Amino acid sequence: MAGGVSVPQLAAAVSEAGGLGFLAAGYKTADGMYQEIKQLRGATSRPFGINLFMPQPEYADPAAVGVYEHQLAGEASWYRTELGDPDSGRDDGYDAKLAVLLDNPVPVVSFHFGCPTRDVLESLSRAGTLTLVTATTAEEAQAVQWAGADAVIVQGVEAGGHQGTHRDNPETDGSGIGLLSLIAQVRETVQIPVVAAGGIMRGSQIAAVLAAGADAAQLGTAFLATPESGANALHKQALTNPLFVRTELTRAFSGRPARGLVNRFMREHGPYAPAAYPEVHHLTAPVRKAAAKAGDPQAMALWAGQGHRLARELPAGQLVEVLAAELAAARTALSARQGRGSAR
Ligand SMILES: Cc1cc2nc3c(=O)[nH]c(=O)nc-3n(C[C@H](O)[C@H](O)[C@H](O)COP(=O)(O)O)c2cc1C
Repeated sequence: MAGGVSVPQLAAAVSEAGGLGFLAAGYKTADGMYQEIKQLRGATSRPFGINLFMPQPEYADPAAVGVYEHQLAGEASWYRTELGDPDSGRDDGYDAKLAVLLDNPVPVVSFHFGCPTRDVLESLSRAGTLTLVTATTAEEAQAVQWAGADAVIVQGVEAGGHQGTHRDNPETDGSGIGLLSLIAQVRETVQIPVVAAGGIMRGSQIAAVLAAGADAAQLGTAFLATPESGANALHKQALTNPLFVRTELTRAFSGRPARGLVNRFMREHGPYAPAAYPEVHHLTAPVRKAAAKAGDPQAMALWAGQGHRLARELPAGQLVEVLAAELAAARTALSARQGRGSAR
């Protein structure tokens, strides 16, 4: 979880408890990522993962970005800041980060917003790193398998944060696939292991995705509220605050569809925000920062999955243990039901 959420303390606590903690490399420099890897290695000797953003090959229409900039001028003056430079970089330091990860291999690397080339996946594999790539459709999962990744992360439309769609296409907005349908479609398309993500907050849901054909589950929002998460306190509080009644996919903050709690900024700017990632991300960054500084969640990107109301403020290690116990209980209950069924 990029944006300061998946910090070394959180990843270490998850890995120490038997989960696979992840560090977010997104929005960081290659050196920033490397420093966090060193911190994490100091905190745990257990396996962990690093998540990278894929570079975005297609430039957005500068006119559309210009119009949005104009529309956001009032936000900047309200929060007494300037809008960011939309052209502040579009590859997220991908090559430099890969170079660090090849020189200092880590156990797992996952990719969001696209699929790396076969060469990249093979070189990580030769370095002893397992590779995972996010997919939001069966076609994307097939591309991930063809490219040679070790596993695919199947991200349902319920998921908090950005959809990891490979090519952003405004014409397919609103056609996101629910996790259970997606697992079934992907399972019939690819043979590599499937990690299920999106809206999972309880062990019983992990049991459900495993029963549906997934090999593992990935949880984001459930860990946002833990004390180890680096999420802003306002973001953590908003997850269970009844003022924030629902989530929606929006391009308002970044220019790419991402799921967050509906707030004023999303309501006002979401309807006309252009498909322009990462230009819009750079543009809105100072406004989001200034809103957080002012203690105003109404212009912050409150990323959250559809299950946000079920967030628990447990320490991350304890949350992993509770989830494991719930999973075990759900599996016992299921086999007892199956036993009763076959006895009838
Ligand atoms: C605050 C937040 C930040 C996220 N940042 C990233 C990211 O940097 N890279 C990534 O691959 N996925 C990111 N995601 C998506 C998660 O990997 C995952 O798909 C999602 O959290 C699963 O849905 P859930 O939040 O309902 O559990 C983020 C999700 C959240 C909630």
